[in-house]
Amino acid sequence: NIEIKVDSVLAMMTLEEKVGQLVQYNGSWDLTGPASEMNNQLKVANLKKGLVGSMLNVLSVEATLEAQKLVMENSRMKIPLMFGYDVIHGYKTIFPVPLGETASWDLELMEETARVAALESVAYGVNWTFSPMIDVSRDARWGRIMEGSGEDPYLTAQVGVSKIKGYQGDDLAKNTTIAATAKHFAGYGFAEAGRDYNTVNIGENELQNMVLPPFKAAAEAGVATFMNSFNDLDGTPATGNKMLQRDVLKGDWKWDGFVVSDWGSITEMVNHGFATNKKHAAEIAIKAGSDMDMEGGAYEVGLAELVKEGRLKEELIDDAVKRVLRVKFKLGLFEDPYRYSKPEVLNNINFEDHKKLAREAAKRSIVLLKNSDKILPVKSSVKKIAVIGPLANDKDSPLGNWRAQGETNSAVSVVEGLKNGIGESTEITFSEGTKLGTGERSFLMPLAINTTDRSGFQDAIEKATNADLVVMVLGEDAFQAGEGRSQANIGLAGLQMELFDTVHNVNSNIVLVLINGRPLEISEISKKATAIVEAWQLGSESGNAIADVLTGKYNPSGKLPASFPRAVGQEPLYYNEKNTGRPYNEEHVTYSHYTDVKKDALYPFGFGLSYATFQYGDIQLSSTQMDMEGNIKVSIRVTNTSKIPGKEVVQLYLRDLVASTTRPVKELKGFQMITLKPGETKSVTFSITKKMLEFYSANKKWEAEPGDFELYLGGNSVDVKSARFKLK
Ligand code: IFM
Repeated sequence: NIEIKVDSVLAMMTLEEKVGQLVQYNGSWDLTGPASEMNNQLKVANLKKGLVGSMLNVLSVEATLEAQKLVMENSRMKIPLMFGYDVIHGYKTIFPVPLGETASWDLELMEETARVAALESVAYGVNWTFSPMIDVSRDARWGRIMEGSGEDPYLTAQVGVSKIKGYQGDDLAKNTTIAATAKHFAGYGFAEAGRDYNTVNIGENELQNMVLPPFKAAAEAGVATFMNSFNDLDGTPATGNKMLQRDVLKGDWKWDGFVVSDWGSITEMVNHGFATNKKHAAEIAIKAGSDMDMEGGAYEVGLAELVKEGRLKEELIDDAVKRVLRVKFKLGLFEDPYRYSKPEVLNNINFEDHKKLAREAAKRSIVLLKNSDKILPVKSSVKKIAVIGPLANDKDSPLGNWRAQGETNSAVSVVEGLKNGIGESTEITFSEGTKLGTGERSFLMPLAINTTDRSGFQDAIEKATNADLVVMVLGEDAFQAGEGRSQANIGLAGLQMELFDTVHNVNSNIVLVLINGRPLEISEISKKATAIVEAWQLGSESGNAIADVLTGKYNPSGKLPASFPRAVGQEPLYYNEKNTGRPYNEEHVTYSHYTDVKKDALYPFGFGLSYATFQYGDIQLSSTQMDMEGNIKVSIRVTNTSKIPGKEVVQLYLRDLVASTTRPVKELKGFQMITLKPGETKSVTFSITKKMLEFYSANKKWEAEPGDFELYLGGNSVDVKSARFKLK
């Protein structure tokens, strides 16, 4: 029994050793060589003394082995380290960025890519990923929207649970599985004005109904760890938030894992003006339920002293240490501290198979936004395709941000993918047209956008003039989205729009392929491009997957997990909004809208086309009344009215018409993916249960309230059939 083991280890520990378990060091320095910097020498000394619980960014089996040895061969208690890393969408083999992969709405697929990411992580010595990010995010200006599942809490929860299952499997102790992290707890995705790390001012209603559900689902799925967040939530930094961590997570939800802080977020409470110094920050954080201090140095300097001074009860430290030890036992580290540092594991990794999975995931993540004149799939009459744009032959941007150890420039570009996939009778020409940026960029240094160099325009004009079809590849650089990459403008940066117009003047047969990490503002270009393929940052096999879709080898099935705005001024924009007291008024301006732009999305949540066409029949309800104990069945017939097979994601939305607090106009409550042959009809049935009707009510608890509900079924959040029922 793990609890007995945890207690027996704890009983032997000194206060300093206990505090050590709550300390996490960054280790992106060469552990195998001499620890040259002073800071590193200190870290090595502390590892030897057993004063460190875990490390992050230790990036090879050799390095983790070395660090583990420092602890196992020198410390008194010999408590093995955990090694954490941001394995967000793959370790070496890179899968689509999470926002993109969510567009597949394919939960099994997302579990599988997490499983494979775990295998590769273990092969490189990592036993803990800081993923999944399950922050509901509604603001495309926020750079980290790429790292989550978009604007819907239900979809985010489903994806989060699939990821956790994929990483953790059914037994954390296997050396094919790793500990997962539900992050960032909580509210981080609601940063004001989409500016990263900014204040979050949401009320209890929004917090409970929109932000917390994915985290509750993660806790119930047994996620090993949580990470708290940088932001201040309604006046209290999340890291110092007792209500969130002690009352809700560890209290109401009875979750027994440990909470790691975000990088330095405990110490940052000093900047927030919430703590006077590191020691005070440590006191606030541990009392609030933050268990481990990520590279912040606050627990290290503060906790033991606080206990000795009587300002902190040792039981609080004991509770945090027990949580850490519990996860270490579950990982099997006490049985074999080197379980995740075995060089031979790498030999068993089948990177070729992982590549195939990456292509599968990538093609299923693509969303077809527009396809006028059925220009796609590319017809056999097309003999010459000009592939144009700064991202057309870019082998790096498709890897996106947070690409772990995905090698620079290792993705298949669109040009390469088309050459591989189009067949010999069609010629592919390429012109970059313009560069997206000038100079180098990296994880820490964003790209300087090119606004002056048009030297490639002429070549693009020539290639476009001589082509039957133009595939223009535009969007964002890999590091334009991600942490610290908030943008006030979310259009096509630099000279991209100008290049498009220039090409459009000579050849208007344009398929626009977008490679990007966030919803973009593409109103203008969406009118001009004949087709638009949203290809996100699809990872290692990006170009091949895009070619699969362009050539029709794969019929696109992706659906947007986040709304695409008509103008950046609409952000935050999300389908599950409230009705307001003034939703609509034809007579005059005094209703909730903009006077210059329509208020709805250009491409709404759940939207995505197929080369097939689907027709929805009428809704059938098993009853128009349901009681609290019962359920009703709702069905709809969906027909493939085209001549090719296709996949459709049938979406179920609900609205509580009158409630004790205002409720969203629609909320996703279920979805099913179906495959239909040409002409085939399938009936899709959902069971409506009381649980689906529950919300955090005026009584400050989750409950369903009797009354009328509207339900909607359709292929996106706007084009839906509806019916009404009553909950008694
Ligand atoms: O896991 C991340 C987190 O999401 C943002 N700050 C840094 C952490 C560790 O790299």
